[in-house]
Amino acid sequence: MSDDRFGLKGRTVLVTGAGGGLGRCHALLFAKHGANVVVNDLGGASDGTGGGSAMADKVVDEIKAAGGNAVADYGSVSDAAQAEAMVKTAIDAFGSIDVVINNAGILRDISFAKCTDAEWDAVYAVHVKGAYNVTKAAWGPMRDANYGRIIMTASASGIYGNFGQANYSMAKMGLVGFGQTLAIEGEKRNIKTNIIAPIAISRMTESLMPENVHELIRPDLVSPLVVYLCSESCDANGEVYEVGAGGAWRLETVRSQGWAIKPADGRELSVEEVADNWAAINNMEGADVLRAIGDSTMATLKHCLG
Ligand SMILES: NC(=O)c1ccc[n+]([C@@H]2O[C@H](COP(=O)([O-])OP(=O)(O)OC[C@H]3O[C@@H](n4cnc5c(N)ncnc54)[C@H](O)[C@@H]3O)[C@@H](O)[C@H]2O)c1
Repeated sequence: MSDDRFGLKGRTVLVTGAGGGLGRCHALLFAKHGANVVVNDLGGASDGTGGGSAMADKVVDEIKAAGGNAVADYGSVSDAAQAEAMVKTAIDAFGSIDVVINNAGILRDISFAKCTDAEWDAVYAVHVKGAYNVTKAAWGPMRDANYGRIIMTASASGIYGNFGQANYSMAKMGLVGFGQTLAIEGEKRNIKTNIIAPIAISRMTESLMPENVHELIRPDLVSPLVVYLCSESCDANGEVYEVGAGGAWRLETVRSQGWAIKPADGRELSVEEVADNWAAINNMEGADVLRAIGDSTMATLKHCLG
C-alpha cells in the first residue's frame, strides 16, 4: 500500500464493468492507493449477452489478496434499480460513495446501413443510460457530502468517428457532453467530472490491434490517469483526455476564425456568400480555443459585430 499523497485512503470507489479489461485495472490501482472498491460487473460477453458473478468475484479476490478492501456487485448498469443498488452497496459496505468510474461497456459493431434498432438501443442502454443510472444514484449522496469524483469513459470512436460504430460513437460522444455539463453543475459541491478516451488491449480490442503493440497498450497503463483525476490533488474538471500506451493528452475544442456577415454590411446572408467564403470558414489558422459555452456565444457575437 502506498502513502496517502492522493487523498484516496478510505474513499469509496465504484468501478462499473470492473471484472476485466480497463475496469479491473482501475479497481486494482484504486485499492492499491487505499480506496475501498465496489467491483461491479455483469459478467457477460463483449456484446453484453450472458452474465455471472465469477468476473467480479475474481477481481475482489485479487484486491483482498493484495491487502485491499473490496466488495462485488453483479448488477447491470442499464437497470436503474440495479444501479441504485450498486451505490447502496458502496454506502452499506464502506459508508460513502466518493468516486464513480463509469466504465462498463459493450460493442455491437455493424455498418449503419445494417444496424438494427436493437443494436442501436443496446449500446445506448449500457453506455449512456448506464452511466446516467449509476451517476444519478450517486449524485445525491455526493451533493450531500460536498465531495465527488466521476469519470466518463468515452472513446476516440466518438470524437473522430469510426466505420461500423455509429451506435458506439453516438454513445461515447454523448458521454462527453454529459460529463462536461456535470462538471459545471457539480462544481459548487466539489464534484468533479472528467472524461477519458482510452486506448488499451482488452477482449474488446484484441482482434483489432496488431499483436506487436499489445504490450505497449496494456490496460493498466490507462489507470494511473484515472486514479489521479479522482484524487484530491487534481483540480481538473470537465476535461477530456486521450490516454494509453503510457501517456495522456488533453483535448481542446478549437474554432476557426471563420467568417461572418456584419450588420453594417447591410445585406442578408445568402448561400452564395457561404460558398464564396468557404475557404475562410474552414481556415484553421489562428483558431481560437473555446473553453465554455459563453466563450462560444461571445465569439459568435463579437465576430459578426466586430
Ligand atoms: N479498450 C479500448 O481501447 C477502449 C477504447 C475506447 C473506449 N473503451 C471503453 O472502455 C470501457 C472498458 O472497456 P474494455 O476495453 O476494458 O472492455 P471489456 O469488455 O474488457 O470491459 C467492459 C466490461 O463491462 C462489463 N459490462 C458490460 N455490460 C455491463 C452492464 N450492463 N453492467 C455492468 N457491467 C457491464 C463487461 O462484463 C466487461 O467486463 C468501455 O466503456 C469501452 O467502451 C475501451
